[in-house]
Amino acid sequence: MIQINDVTKYYRDVKVIEHFSLEVSDHTSLVVLGPSGCGKTTLLRLIAGLEIPDEGEIYINGSLVSCPGWVLPPHRRSIGFVFQTSALWPHMTVSQNIRFGLHSGNDGRVQEMLTRTGLMELANRYPSQISGGQARRVALARALAPEPEYLLLDEPLTNLDPDLKQEMLTLIKETVANTGGSLIYVTHDAGEANHISERIIEIKIYRDE
Ligand SMILES: Nc1ncnc2c1ncn2[C@@H]1O[C@H](COP(=O)(O)OP(=O)(O)OP(=O)(O)O)[C@@H](O)[C@H]1O
Ligand SMILES: [Mg+2]
Repeated sequence: MIQINDVTKYYRDVKVIEHFSLEVSDHTSLVVLGPSGCGKTTLLRLIAGLEIPDEGEIYINGSLVSCPGWVLPPHRRSIGFVFQTSALWPHMTVSQNIRFGLHSGNDGRVQEMLTRTGLMELANRYPSQISGGQARRVALARALAPEPEYLLLDEPLTNLDPDLKQEMLTLIKETVANTGGSLIYVTHDAGEANHISERIIEIKIYRDE
């Protein structure tokens, strides 16, 4: 379970998230909607341990992982992340990127993910040699491959056409169902949201009044 308790986050003196609380139980999928700039990415980065809260605490499976001044590093949390920008390792090929989070010797899983995301032909290319939509799929395959307990997806299907979107939605849902993990899915697309889960929260832009 992920518990966010009364978290406030500033970037310098600008408040982005104020007194925000949320619980994501095990085996659940949650969609986060909201206008550009409302703090969706910031929320995921807080959960992943890439940002430090200014107030409040975050717990994963009952253990404190973030509070003002201290965070458990991202790699010590059982989390898979697809960043809003694909953030692939530029010096690694497509298949090396997908293999990145796996224990060595798990080539079968890499091949499976390459097939499921339609990237087999691109396995030996570098990120600079593939398109934006292909990079999104590599990022998704890389996050799904290790079957993390918590999957944080930040608009993972941008730049994909409708058919491919549908296939990737199915892949995401299957992976989450197989692992019994939890998913937090950020999107602007209400159609995608309805596909992923009935549990949808909408964040508003913080305004100091
Ligand atoms: N590193 C940073 N330094 C300063 N301000 C930031 C930083 N990152 C984000 N912000 C600001 O914080 C606010 C929330 O940003 P965030 O990226 O979380 O929004 P978002 O909901 O993900 O938006 P989008 O839908 O456009 O991706 C925005 O006003 C943004 O400009
Ligand atoms: Mg964002």
